[in-house]
Amino acid sequence: MSTEKDIARTSAFSRTTITELMIPSYANFGGKIHGGILLSLMDKVAYVTASKHSGAYCVTVSVDTVDFLQPVEVGELVSLMASVNYVGNSSMVVGIKVISENVKVGNVKHTNTCYFTMVAKGEDDKPCRVPKLILEDATDVRRFVEAIYRRKFKQNYETNLKEIKANWEKQDIDKLLEDQRCINQAGKH
Ligand SMILES: CC(C)(COP(=O)(O)OP(=O)(O)OC[C@H]1O[C@@H](n2cnc3c(N)ncnc32)[C@H](O)[C@@H]1OP(=O)(O)O)[C@@H](O)C(=O)NCCC(=O)NCCS
Repeated sequence: MSTEKDIARTSAFSRTTITELMIPSYANFGGKIHGGILLSLMDKVAYVTASKHSGAYCVTVSVDTVDFLQPVEVGELVSLMASVNYVGNSSMVVGIKVISENVKVGNVKHTNTCYFTMVAKGEDDKPCRVPKLILEDATDVRRFVEAIYRRKFKQNYETNLKEIKANWEKQDIDKLLEDQRCINQAGKH
């Protein structure tokens, strides 16, 4: 008999695409689509993908590297393609590729790729175990391994920053700020 621990799913099982028309009320004063609209759509597709994989209610814990590479215009069709790239115990990394399409002209822009970490929660509102991920091909393996490294880099970054903050001296800060575009008035009043 299989137990919950034995359950494993492919990324194809939960792969999700959402396409949405960019309407005028989504635009900022410059006539381009608000970054927040795209973030909200990314959160939605990440939730759908993670909840399909886990079969549970999920929450967003972390969002990595959202860079808006190109502006999105009113009237374009934005598609968000999401798949589970990595699973831990209760967490899942959902990779999302966003493209924007002008159907009249027929061009497609890659607007960004980012990674949402989602955590599955049980009935008790505590993180719960999610099914393993079956890696079916080289792309699945690459994405899983990249997620492991991204996690490590983030941990290193946090440790390094903590270390720097614990040890920084006033003269180091003054030196660092010398060439920056700021006027440091701290401690002068
Ligand atoms: C995320 C949350 C469930 C973590 O709870 P916790 O009691 O600290 O649980 P854990 O420490 O066991 O972490 C659970 C998982 O989250 C992961 N996690 C926690 N913080 C993380 C972070 N900053 N980045 C990436 N993963 C993180 C842990 O690595 C762990 O993964 P694993 O189970 O696969 O090993 C809890 O902080 C929470 O509910 N946050 C609010 C989330 C939310 O409401 N989001 C909506 C936005 S308002």
